Amino acid sequence: MTMIRSAAAAVASAVVLVVGIGVAVVSTQSGKSATAGKPSVAVFKSPTCGCCAKWNEHMTAAGYTVNSRDTTDMNAVKDEHRVPSALRSCHTALVAGYVIEGHVPQDVVAKLLAERPAGIVGIAVPGMPAGSPGMESADGFKTPYQVMAFTQDGQSRVYASK
Ligand code: CU
Ligand code: CU
Repeated sequence: MTMIRSAAAAVASAVVLVVGIGVAVVSTQSGKSATAGKPSVAVFKSPTCGCCAKWNEHMTAAGYTVNSRDTTDMNAVKDEHRVPSALRSCHTALVAGYVIEGHVPQDVVAKLLAERPAGIVGIAVPGMPAGSPGMESADGFKTPYQVMAFTQDGQSRVYASK
């Protein structure tokens, strides 16, 4: 009886071991994808927009996978995603369900994704301020600017100052 019991115990512990290895492999894989994986960025831009392409490079350098699409009707894109008219810029991007309008710095995108502020559907840098990512000039001139957060019904507030 003792031998049967210990054989059964050996089988049981072997099963635990195999299951344990399986769990370890699965958790290692999900851990890898979590650290490597920033969300992808879908960008809509005019085909002639050079500063938009530079913002795409800014986001790519920060580790995002950028999928950029050219369109000649940017107003339709901004209307569809409810970008308030006062906050509009050149390109419009979608990241993890949020709208990112214009030359928003990658660190503010990261802040948005980390904080997920209540009621906010997107953030925007209105216009195209000099020195914002993608709007750098050779002489390094920068204009102070604000990143605005907006709600679905078009209200906005300052989210970050640069
Ligand atoms: Cu631009
Ligand atoms: Cu742009």
